Amino acid sequence: MLAIRLVSGPERPDALAVPIHPARAAEAEGGTGAATLPAGLPALDDDVLAEAAALAPAARATGRAGEVHVHLRPARTPGRLLLAGVGDGDEAGWRAAGAALARAAASETHLTIVLPGDVAAGAVRGLTEGLLLASYRFRVTEAGDRPALTDVDVVVTDPAGFADVVTAAEVTARMTHLARDLTNTPSSVKNPQWFAEQVEAAVADRPDLHLRVREPDELAAEGFGGILAVGGGSASGPRLVELDWRPAGARTHVVLVGKGITFDTGGISIKPRAAMKLMRKDMAGAAAVVAATLGAAALRLPVRITTLVPLAENAISGSAFRPGDVITHYGGITSETTNSDAEGRLVLADALAYAVAELKPDLLIDLATLTGANAVALGKRTGALYSDNDELAADLLAAIDAAGEAAWRMPLPADYVEHLGSEVADLYSAPSQGAGSVLAALYLREFTGDLRQRWLHIDMSAPSWADGDAGELSRGATGWGVRGLLRWLGTLA
Ligand code: BES
Ligand code: MN
Ligand code: ZN
Repeated sequence: MLAIRLVSGPERPDALAVPIHPARAAEAEGGTGAATLPAGLPALDDDVLAEAAALAPAARATGRAGEVHVHLRPARTPGRLLLAGVGDGDEAGWRAAGAALARAAASETHLTIVLPGDVAAGAVRGLTEGLLLASYRFRVTEAGDRPALTDVDVVVTDPAGFADVVTAAEVTARMTHLARDLTNTPSSVKNPQWFAEQVEAAVADRPDLHLRVREPDELAAEGFGGILAVGGGSASGPRLVELDWRPAGARTHVVLVGKGITFDTGGISIKPRAAMKLMRKDMAGAAAVVAATLGAAALRLPVRITTLVPLAENAISGSAFRPGDVITHYGGITSETTNSDAEGRLVLADALAYAVAELKPDLLIDLATLTGANAVALGKRTGALYSDNDELAADLLAAIDAAGEAAWRMPLPADYVEHLGSEVADLYSAPSQGAGSVLAALYLREFTGDLRQRWLHIDMSAPSWADGDAGELSRGATGWGVRGLLRWLGTLA
C-alpha cells in the first residue's frame, strides 16, 4: 500500500500538490469566480504559492472536489505543480481530492501535498483514504498498470496531532483492499475452503481473534440445512466461518453476517450467460464483514463482534438441490426452494437463525449481494437498507454516508408478507410478485426470531462492483460496506 507520511515541512519535492477551492465570496462580490488557495498554507521556496494562486484562474480551475490541474515547471523545483480542488473542504471533498491526486500523480514516485495550518481532522482522513483507496489495483488482472506512486508526504503544522486519524484511514483502506482482493479473486481459486483459509491466515498473528470453521460433517450434525443444500452441488464443500473479536470491557455485542457464495451459477435454475459472468463477486458481503471485523480488531474497538460467513458454491450437478425441494434450516424453519438462484437467502437464513438461538447478540446485521433488483431500484452505487428499527437504520445510514458509501432505506411492507406462504413448507424462498430485494429482506426477517427489532439487512449487489475507475473506486470489486461498518462500529465503542 501507498506509504503516507505526515511531515511538518516540505523537502524540495519534485511533485507538489496545492489545494484549491471555489471562490464563492469572490463570485458574490462580482469577482471572477476562479478557484483560490485556502489561507494558512505553509511558506514554500521560489514563490510557488503565488504561482499556484495565479495559475488557478489561468487554468480556469473551478476548485470543484476531484478536479486536478497539472502544471509543468521545467528545470525548476518542484517540476510539477498540481492544483487539487477540494470543493466545500469537507471530508468528502478532501476524499475526492485525494483520489483524484492518486490518479493524476500515478506516474510520480513521490508526491508532497501541503495542507492549510488549521486543517480539520476529517479533511486529513478524507485525503488519506482517497489517496489509498484510489491507488488500489487488483494484483492479478491489472499488474501491468500499477501506479508508480509509492510515497506521499502530507505537510501539516502538527504531524503528531493527526497520527490517529491517519492510522484509522490506513486500517480502513487496508481492509477495503482486502475485501476487494477477496472479491476480485477468480472462483477457480476462491472456493469455500480457500476463503476460510484466507480468514485463518489473517488471524494467524492475532491470538485475540477466535476463529472456528465448520466443515460439512459438522454443518450436517448441527442442522445447517440451507448451507448444505446450496453447497451440495459443488465439488468444493461448504463452510461456516465464525470469527470472534471479544475485547475486554465491551458493552455491546454485534453479530455480522455476510453472504459468501464463491460462485453463483444459479444452480439448476441456471443464470443466462451475461448474468453469470461476474458471479465471482457473490461473496462480497462475506468479504466486507470479515474485513470490517479485522479492522475493528486492528483499531482495538471495544465492541464485541461475532462474524458469521456461510460459504458455498452454487453449482450445477447431479447432487445440486432442485427447485421445489423442501429444506430444513438451522433451528427448524423449512423453505420451499422455488428457484435455486435464490440461494443467498437460504445460507443467510441458517446463519441468522444460529445467531439468534446461540449467540443472542444486541444487534444483528447482514450484508449480501442478494438480488439484481437492488440495481433496478437504486442504480449501481447505492445499497438497499432494511430494518424495522428506525434508530439502528438512521445510525447505519449516517455512518455509511460519512464514510463515503451510499445506501437508501427501503420498506418492509406488512401486506407483502403473505407472498412468503408455501403449501409444503413454512416459507416460499423466492416469491415472484416483483420487488425482489424487498421480498428477499422479508424472507430473511422470518429468521430473526426475537431479534427482529434489532436486525438490519443490506442488499449490496449493486455497489459491490464498479464497472470503471470512479473517484476512490478502482474498476472491479469496491469493498463496499467495509468503510461504513467500521465507522458505525466506531460509534458503538
Ligand atoms: N447473486 C444473485 C444476485 C445478484 C445479481 C448479485 C446481480 C449481483 C448482481 C442472487 O443469488 C440471485 O440470483 N438473485 C435472484 C433472485 C431471484 C431468483 C428471486 C435475482 O436477483 O434474480
Ligand atoms: Mn443466485
Ligand atoms: Zn447469489
